[in-house]
Amino acid sequence: MLYMKPLIAPSLLSADFLNLGDDIEMVNRSEADWFHCDVMDGIFVPNISFGLPVIKAIKTKAEKPLDVHLMIQHPERFINDFKNAGADLLSVHYEVCSHLHRTLQEIKNLDMKAGIVLNPHTHVTVLENILSEADFVLLMSVNPGFGGQSFIPETFDKIKKLKEMILKKNLQTLIEVDGGIGLNNAKQLIEAGADVLVAGNAVFKNPDPSLAIKMLKNSFF
Ligand code: DX5
Ligand code: ZN
Repeated sequence: MLYMKPLIAPSLLSADFLNLGDDIEMVNRSEADWFHCDVMDGIFVPNISFGLPVIKAIKTKAEKPLDVHLMIQHPERFINDFKNAGADLLSVHYEVCSHLHRTLQEIKNLDMKAGIVLNPHTHVTVLENILSEADFVLLMSVNPGFGGQSFIPETFDKIKKLKEMILKKNLQTLIEVDGGIGLNNAKQLIEAGADVLVAGNAVFKNPDPSLAIKMLKNSFF
């Protein structure tokens, strides 16, 4: 088995909002690959984070793709707005999309990468008939809504099973994992088949965030 370095997507939810520009610059200069931006509506998840104007501001400084994770009801209402705000990758939760196929098409038609997010309780087999439409799948390894929660170990089995499905269908779909990720589990996540690691607290609560990113990026080797 050939292992690649994972893509690293620092989650700005854990950044210092009073000095967001400095944190964006740090990520620009680091080995990170994407900016992970968590949008919450206080209904689908029990928290409210930030929305379109903040994403727009982040875009003016970010030199890497914006990976926007929508934790909102009826995300299809805002696909255009997030494109205009600067999203390069846009992911929606399986649990809130009645017409997921159409929603993914709409995202891709606007030249963004389309992702499906699964909550911890949602089994990967629900993706059987939609997987080929997604550029990436984001597996939540905590219940969405907050940074700094503990990783749910069941995620390892979900990654392995999803990887099998992707290989069997001969797809290039990336597996992104989000929640409770740090140096203690990064290597095991890559071994299981994860391609993209999101990290909030493990990056921004570290006294040297840039080094934390470098360590995550090279955790397998
Ligand atoms: C949780 C968000 C995550 C969060 C991860 O709902 O989707 O992206 O910021 O934070 P950590 O890495 O601290 O668990
Ligand atoms: Zn997220």
